[in-house]
Amino acid sequence: MSSIRSIPKDKLPDALKSIIRGVVANNPEALSVLVQLARDGKKEWWKLTTDYRLLKSLKELGLIVTKNNTEYELFDHNLVRSVLEELGYIKYKPGPEEPTFPISVDDLNQIVGYDDVKRIIVMALRSRKPVHILLVGPPGIGKSLFLDSIRKALKKKNACVEHVEAVKGLSTSVGIAELLLSMDPEIPCALLIDEIDKLSQEDLALLLRLMETGEIIVTKHGKRISEERKVWVIAATNDERKLLAPMLDRFLIFRFRGLTKDEYRRLVPSILTVNEGIDLDLARYIADRLADITTDIREAVRIARLARTKEEVDFLVRQIAQSRKGFLSP
Ligand SMILES: Nc1ncnc2c1ncn2[C@@H]1O[C@H](COP(=O)(O)OP(=O)(O)O)[C@@H](O)[C@H]1O
Ligand SMILES: [Mg+2]
Repeated sequence: MSSIRSIPKDKLPDALKSIIRGVVANNPEALSVLVQLARDGKKEWWKLTTDYRLLKSLKELGLIVTKNNTEYELFDHNLVRSVLEELGYIKYKPGPEEPTFPISVDDLNQIVGYDDVKRIIVMALRSRKPVHILLVGPPGIGKSLFLDSIRKALKKKNACVEHVEAVKGLSTSVGIAELLLSMDPEIPCALLIDEIDKLSQEDLALLLRLMETGEIIVTKHGKRISEERKVWVIAATNDERKLLAPMLDRFLIFRFRGLTKDEYRRLVPSILTVNEGIDLDLARYIADRLADITTDIREAVRIARLARTKEEVDFLVRQIAQSRKGFLSP
């Protein structure tokens, strides 16, 4: 392979991707060298690998450089690091100048409206120290969509993110404790908890301490151990009355209400065109027809998936109206 120095600057990021993939497939130890340098900066060669030939070939390729043949570094630290992150080889770890979580408002485009909420969530995730957020509101208002969009955005950038859906009963007390213990203490992690009110009392107690002090206390093999984790909690619930005051106090809370008919008519066409890919005319028609009988967004999403024509929309809306009254007949 020829040196990367001959590659034009604008082609470099893409070229690097395939070069690094190739190098790593050829010799897995090359990955360890690159990841160490991306994480630690300069490093003495004997700490990197015992395989001097590997270093020589990486140097010839231009991926690593040395001034004194003792200490090596990446030829362009930030670029190689971002390529390694993109390829999923290293987890995102914020530098002193970088946001804690690499997310921007554009990552939340799938959510229609609520621009202020999006902006504040992004501010919280980019902040140096944890700010926890709770979304409260009736079903179908987009709370889970918020959590899901955040999860996808952070996953894409290889930032640490864990998603717990309390309603699925996945998280016993051991579950959340294990999850927290499995996190790297040095890397900030976003913990997304849907239907947080359904967590067990033990889990809630664990979270309470974590959110206050960054500390988790668990009993392991009969011993109480305490560890620290950098965790940002973003949670959602339909019913905040099920959470205790000390818990609510630790959150920045956004309270959503159900949509009015007007908001439904305004929001739903965008939701259906953006997320369901139907055309605006049909989307508007669905919103207008449904607004008379419901402001449930899920109902509109279902119709958008079923109907191809206005006539089909009419047919489905009629069925829904009758069904709601309990008037279905054979
Ligand atoms: N603001 C919105 N933008 C885009 N889609 C939305 C919005 N609000 C709700 N939806 C859609 O409505 C449905 C229900 O939303 P969901 O997030 O599950 O609600 P919740 O968790 O509040 O009960 C999903 O299909 C979701 O994509
Ligand atoms: Mg939900």
